[in-house]
Amino acid sequence: MALWHKHCAPDVQSVDLSYDRPYLRPMAILPILEVPDPRLKTISTPVETFDADLKTLVDDMTETMYAAPGIGLAAIQVGVPKRLLVIDLQEEEGEGNEPVRNPRVFVNPEILDPSNEHSLYNEGCLSVPDQYAEVERPAQIRARWQDLDGTFHEETMTGLMATCLQHEMDHLEGILFIDHLSRLKRQMVLKKIEKARKMGGGHVHNEHCRH
Ligand code: NI
Repeated sequence: MALWHKHCAPDVQSVDLSYDRPYLRPMAILPILEVPDPRLKTISTPVETFDADLKTLVDDMTETMYAAPGIGLAAIQVGVPKRLLVIDLQEEEGEGNEPVRNPRVFVNPEILDPSNEHSLYNEGCLSVPDQYAEVERPAQIRARWQDLDGTFHEETMTGLMATCLQHEMDHLEGILFIDHLSRLKRQMVLKKIEKARKMGGGHVHNEHCRH
């Protein structure tokens, strides 16, 4: 899910972190798949092995999410069809108004108990660049997932966290937020992205930018 309202940073293609981590493998910023890439329609398969490779992938996904910048990223968005996602709403702000980082990892997530009550959020997605639309989803969910060690967790989620988790979990089924819109609206969004790419592929300003 894209981070809207707060930040609208220029494209960051790569960040060299090796200089301050001389003894560690630097985290990598991975390329994010964008519509109409057919891989985004993949149904992801469960994670069965909780090993060092999984931790490395999560580190890279987290770094990729922050660099984008975004508040959530599913593994399929970086071309890995596994039921795995990272979320950091970055709602808290520290000194100098910098968002405080608190990344959360969800392996094999499930929704147990969606509420009948719905809420509406203006959603964006790193795979649907610079496009936003209101999507209605259950306002509260009970979520169950595993952490990087395979331990199960359960939590009731509301607000943006509930929406973001549902948005990311849609990716695991090959569904994008624009698939919740009417066919006409979806076509409009896809055409706008195509047009922006033809114009040079740069950042497209819209009403959510603050610059
Ligand atoms: Ni998304």
